[in-house]
Amino acid sequence: MRIIFFAGKGGVGKTSVAAATGIKAAEAGHRTVVMSLDVAHSLSDIFDLNKSLIDEERGNLTKIRKNLWIQELDIQEEIEKNWGDIHKYLSTLLNTTGLDEILAEELAILPGMTEVSLLLHINRYVRTKKFDVILLDCAPTGESLRFISIPTTLDWYMKKIFKVERTIARYVRPLAKRLSDVPLPGEDYFDAIEFLFERLRGVDEILVDPEITTVRLITNPEKIVLKETQRALMYFSLYKMSIDAIIMNRILPDSVSETYFKDWKKSQKDYIKKAENYFSPIPLFPVNLFRGEVLGFDSLKALADQIYRDRNPLERFYDGEPYSFVKVNGKYQLRVKLPFIGKGDVELNKISDELIIRVGSFKRHVMLPRQVAASNSVKAKLEGEYLSVHFES
Ligand SMILES: Nc1ncnc2c1ncn2[C@@H]1O[C@H](COP(=O)(O)OP(=O)(O)OP(=O)(O)O)[C@@H](O)[C@H]1O
Ligand SMILES: [Mg+2]
Repeated sequence: MRIIFFAGKGGVGKTSVAAATGIKAAEAGHRTVVMSLDVAHSLSDIFDLNKSLIDEERGNLTKIRKNLWIQELDIQEEIEKNWGDIHKYLSTLLNTTGLDEILAEELAILPGMTEVSLLLHINRYVRTKKFDVILLDCAPTGESLRFISIPTTLDWYMKKIFKVERTIARYVRPLAKRLSDVPLPGEDYFDAIEFLFERLRGVDEILVDPEITTVRLITNPEKIVLKETQRALMYFSLYKMSIDAIIMNRILPDSVSETYFKDWKKSQKDYIKKAENYFSPIPLFPVNLFRGEVLGFDSLKALADQIYRDRNPLERFYDGEPYSFVKVNGKYQLRVKLPFIGKGDVELNKISDELIIRVGSFKRHVMLPRQVAASNSVKAKLEGEYLSVHFES
């Protein structure tokens, strides 16, 4: 089983690269699905498929070639299938607060439901071994970071909040009914959450297992795009995910010699050099700007050849470890690989067995193992690109 995320800023070429990789993997004989994690799907467009001719199966899974499927989720269908009781409660709640019924139903589709639905599919495919390869065409960076934070957040919610909430609701419900019109969630709602969580079990481990899952960041040789790629690398690292390649897309080829493009070519060269430094030792794969847009099977195949040349696209191109616990002189240290951040950017907060690491506006709860949970003092030191968290007893 192999899972690869294709992530990056809006418009850099994520969908094209994910689709191109899918073609290569399928041709090598692996049963491959390319899934869109973006609600604004463009997978079938990039394959230039005529949607009316697509033979749609359940969950919008479409076979397009031998060994190759694409999947573009329909959130309405997912809500009916996975979120029935949860959605029902939320829309009733919104409706009683005075909202129009249709609007309440629409608003009860919470951010995160699409992402969790996708995780459910991924987990099912892993459990049933339906596919050998799952390729994930991500939404632009911000949203895909929310996606990868969901398993940890849910785990935290289930461990810390869910049981308390359920118990409180059980006791307060009879009283609340007499005092207010606002309905408290019933047992159905809690059962549905528990059932969902059960079906998600294990997906968090799959996503951080570098033998199975890696992330490829797509970027372009431009200042703002590169900045965002660096940030993405840091956040994916924070979530323990392994980045195994950087794909530098849209490079003007040497054959472009018109003076009009002279400055563009020079600045691209500079940024490519800078990027090699930034991301080293993660390998950087250069890809030229094509003559026209990448569209349809043949140009996707040409794109795949440029990216991977004669390499196996499923190979893990880099296998560094972003997170590790070590013990030095009897004391524990947590080493977090956080490239590109200064010391002032990191804030630590330890509450009982949780360590909260803040990087800018992002936050991560780390459930500490027993050995360090009892520690009273936590200090952080930046050593190269590792944040080393020292636990004193
Ligand atoms: N190397 C390339 N040469 C020429 N055109 C390209 C190249 N890579 C991508 N494109 C074109 O750029 C456009 C955007 O590509 P794509 O849809 O893959 O980007 P994306 O990162 O998925 O965008 P979004 O963030 O909107 O999902 C498409 O029209 C695609 O055909
Ligand atoms: Mg896309």
